[in-house]
Amino acid sequence: MTDIVTKPRGIARGLTQYGDSGFSLYLRRSFASSMGYSRDILDRPIIGICHSASGFNNCHRGVPELVEAVKRGVLSAGALPIEFPTISLGEVFLAPTSLKFRNLMSLDVEEMIKAQPMDAVVLVGGCDKTVPAQLMGAASADLPAIQLVTGPMLTGRYHGERLGACTDCRRFWARYRAGEISDDGIDEVERRLASTAGTCAVMGTASTMAAIAETLGMMPGGSAAVPAVDADRLRIAEQTGRVAVAMIGSERRPNQILTRQALENAARVLLAIGGSTNAVIHLAAIAGRVGLSFDLKRFDELSETTPVIVDLKPTGQHYMEDLAAAGGIPAVMRELRELLHLDCLTVTGETIGERLTRWSPWVDRTVIRSVDDPILPHGGLAVLFGNLAPGGAIIKRSAADPRLFEREGRCIVFSSLDDLASRIDDPHLEVAPHDFLVLKNAGPRSAAAMPEAGYLPIPKKLARAGVKDMVRISDARMSGTAFGTVILHVTPDAASGGPLALVRTGDRLRLSVRDRNLDLLVEDDELGRRRAGMPKDAHPEPSSFRGYDWLYSNFVTQANEGCDFAFLRRDGTPKNP
Ligand code: FES
Repeated sequence: MTDIVTKPRGIARGLTQYGDSGFSLYLRRSFASSMGYSRDILDRPIIGICHSASGFNNCHRGVPELVEAVKRGVLSAGALPIEFPTISLGEVFLAPTSLKFRNLMSLDVEEMIKAQPMDAVVLVGGCDKTVPAQLMGAASADLPAIQLVTGPMLTGRYHGERLGACTDCRRFWARYRAGEISDDGIDEVERRLASTAGTCAVMGTASTMAAIAETLGMMPGGSAAVPAVDADRLRIAEQTGRVAVAMIGSERRPNQILTRQALENAARVLLAIGGSTNAVIHLAAIAGRVGLSFDLKRFDELSETTPVIVDLKPTGQHYMEDLAAAGGIPAVMRELRELLHLDCLTVTGETIGERLTRWSPWVDRTVIRSVDDPILPHGGLAVLFGNLAPGGAIIKRSAADPRLFEREGRCIVFSSLDDLASRIDDPHLEVAPHDFLVLKNAGPRSAAAMPEAGYLPIPKKLARAGVKDMVRISDARMSGTAFGTVILHVTPDAASGGPLALVRTGDRLRLSVRDRNLDLLVEDDELGRRRAGMPKDAHPEPSSFRGYDWLYSNFVTQANEGCDFAFLRRDGTPKNP
């Protein structure tokens, strides 16, 4: 068993305060004994297994089996595994949006790691916001920690066609809205889209965050893409348990692993896989937890020198199970080798460079291309600035129509999600295919709490006329599984009085992805008059909230700071609101 260099360890860590530590330990052992533990096993170091299984989280259906496999690994390495639950964030089961609760989950993870007696922790998560929440919480707790993801779903079939949640969800729904699929047809697709345990089967946010966790060095090599139902997933869980034991007392803590160089590696991989725009927010939040900033200008520079080399939906053709079979994230990183910081530390103690050296050289070129023969010569995401987005806005150019990148257009503005829902399909809506659809008040400070609503539907009358894509602009987010010419995370958001709040239907906007510009073509004088006429605080009065709504409303930061709570960043200064 690994030498224990920290004392006290295991059950004796962080004793409950009664003013008599001997009594505290005696009492704790006594109560632990009621769970049937022997004294011998209670004297071992403890690996906490922090998991988020929930009946409201289909993506975590396989967690109980994974936890059992982790326990096998921990026991075989000589420590005592103890699982504990935290809240769970099932993407489609939460209102108004899972992002609102990511920080709550991170608080839960951090505080339970710190408050309970454990020497290292395994984090078991998968669905979109759970992995960032676990990484954020673990970074703040800074105990040796290792991530285990649930793994992606396998694809289903519909009339001979492969189906993967959730790019195909959107594709078929768009066809249904356009009248190309019947009610019976869409019902059958609904049943077949998510047919196994695991996370969405494409390069959505969950898969992107799994790839990022591996790239950051927080997971064993090759563990991001293996499907949830594959036996290898259980072997990875067992390995994770063993590695966790080896980490006890080591310097392999999140603050040693999550360095600026590791974050740059993660940004490179995010760009090369055509990953989710949500990951930009999560990386900024993780960076903040270790006292670093995630500079969007630097991210955009990296994008110019990082090719897209993975052919996966929503950017390409394949699914996560294909990526796993093609060589997984280590094969992607090996292709990017010249662009990566190879001396970054990982949870296993090896560096990223050492990990890549021992990985099998085989690669399936139909899924993972070489940097000399990329799918796109530059990264999947770009950052726009301009008078509409002084703090930046994101476009997933790898999933957009380049014919729409350099243009000027008339704005059709929706003031809120309710306004959007009530008017988008109105046959009298005055809208043309070359207009820009603009949605306000869907950012982090809005009551909607930044939902994945930036993928505005094409107005039904245009969809039925064959229009497949339009420029869409908002302060909202977009699911990593979505596609289209969609500009997101406009910062500052409208609810905090950003320039987006001033846009009106009929205004003209200029978009240039080439020049990274997003400019509202309205005179400054006119914008000043509009601002003077705005209510002083478009944001709802914080005093009208209580509980978590109050906390969220008062402390959430903008997208470029990761939408974390200001006081949870490492440099965060607690202030009275
Ligand atoms: Fe959980 Fe997509 S809904 S990963």
